[in-house]
Amino acid sequence: MRVPDTFTIAIDGPAASGKGTLARRLAVHYGFHHLDTGLTYRAVAKALLDRGLPLDDEEIAAGVARNLDLRHLDRTVLAAHHVGEAASKVAVMPAVRRALVAAQRSFAQTLPGTVLDGRDIGTVVCPDAPVKLYVIASPEARARRRHAEIEAGSGKADFAEILADLTRRDARDMGRTDSPLKPADDAHLLDTTEMDIEAAFLAAKRLVDEALAKRQA
Ligand code: C5P
Repeated sequence: MRVPDTFTIAIDGPAASGKGTLARRLAVHYGFHHLDTGLTYRAVAKALLDRGLPLDDEEIAAGVARNLDLRHLDRTVLAAHHVGEAASKVAVMPAVRRALVAAQRSFAQTLPGTVLDGRDIGTVVCPDAPVKLYVIASPEARARRRHAEIEAGSGKADFAEILADLTRRDARDMGRTDSPLKPADDAHLLDTTEMDIEAAFLAAKRLVDEALAKRQA
């Protein structure tokens, strides 16, 4: 008997581009499993910070990455701003990426389908994914969203500081040698600067429906 293939939706883009919300929406709609791969880098960074270990020792960080359990990624604990900053430092190390990419690839095989979002899903983790989306928005629009999120939650945030942080993180993610943030050649570009989540979802859904129909044809 032929083992059925899974179906993977690969979503990449910079911080606060809307890719996470879109990924969750698509996963619920299609009944697919979702992995926010940013949480895996955040979990490694948080484990190092919690144990007072250095963020720039590749061997130590890779050891933590190899022992990471994807079933225990707690978004509320990992969302903290300083953990994101630390994650983007840990994410430049090839041995850390190798360990996390192996775990992410194995997750991507889950049936009946998966949605993975991150920075290198379409280019490195799942280069054969039948649907690849590259979600962008202007830095100002992304900073506005992050600002609104923080103000709606715990309290005060400085817009200029958020914008500077995002720009710095973009530069680190796009400038690193191993798996820099960039669109795959066959990725569909989705600019959400002027789009709300519903419009982004509908645009993505059209592309996924087309790819699913092609697979069944
Ligand atoms: O998406 P999120 O902000 O949670 O990601 C935190 C950091 O993890 C990113 O800034 C990036 O450096 C790193 N990351 C990565 N590759 C991924 C996902 C996240 O390098 N696939």
